Amino acid sequence: MSIKISTLNGVTTFEIARPEKKNALTLQMYDTMAGALHSAVADAQVRAVLITGQPGMFTSGNDLQDFMQQPPTGEDSPVLRFMQALRACDKPVVAAVTGLAVGIGVTMLLHCDLVYVADDARMSMPFVSLGLVPEFGSSLVLPRLMGHTQAAAKLMLGEAFTGAEAVALGIANAALPAAEVMAHARRIAERFNELPPGAVRDTKRLLRAGTNEAVQQAMRAEAAVFVERLHGPEAKEAFAAFFQKRKPNFS
Ligand code: COA
Repeated sequence: MSIKISTLNGVTTFEIARPEKKNALTLQMYDTMAGALHSAVADAQVRAVLITGQPGMFTSGNDLQDFMQQPPTGEDSPVLRFMQALRACDKPVVAAVTGLAVGIGVTMLLHCDLVYVADDARMSMPFVSLGLVPEFGSSLVLPRLMGHTQAAAKLMLGEAFTGAEAVALGIANAALPAAEVMAHARRIAERFNELPPGAVRDTKRLLRAGTNEAVQQAMRAEAAVFVERLHGPEAKEAFAAFFQKRKPNFS
């Protein structure tokens, strides 16, 4: 089982646990998380969801083998179902990030509500290096959060940034010493046990109302280019180079 799911004190926790592959996310893992999000929404005892990785490794992003063998093509792909379930989740979603967060490991944070990171976490969105483009609304959300020039550095150059920088850029709420992140995020998630769930739910809905349609539109536009690029020569070369442990050649 590469996603460990547990519910304690009103909080359902998803722990990404595939250390041998640096917590890369497979189709099956997206499927599990999508299902567990729907269950968390349906369970009145659950007041918040907490997403985390393991100490020192949030996730290295989408499994590149899956990208090559079973590329996400449509509305029914597990990754899209997971991201749509995350967008639709009407309960607070808290993330606790230590170590590496790559690709969708950062993109998913843009759709959480409260994000706590290790100050030395390393985050990046290297879509261009893989011959790909941003996904799941990040081409819309990132420039709104941090301005075009910073978003261009993160998305066009794939520039890495620390947890502390993620706070300055508006991606995360707070950066803490790595050993304190999980306990802090859990305390925050458990605070929702003391708050009226209806008011929390309506507030979340209102917070998103102004951007919902634009985010969905951006997701559709990104997906069309992403899927096309996944089958293109640049992505093929980038993926082959990764698995052959060599530098890609885009000349
Ligand atoms: N998909 C599939 N396998 C992955 C993976 C991914 N996203 N990330 C790591 N792995 C695998 C490696 O292939 C390797 O497998 P092996 O032991 O069978 O050779 C194993 O996990 C360990 O990875 P390795 O690269 O040796 O570890 P590292 O500590 O040197 O580097 C990373 C860690 C995360 C920096 C590096 O693995 C990496 O860049 N991964 C790809 C990140 C990425 O591009 N994600 C997609 C973004 S859209």
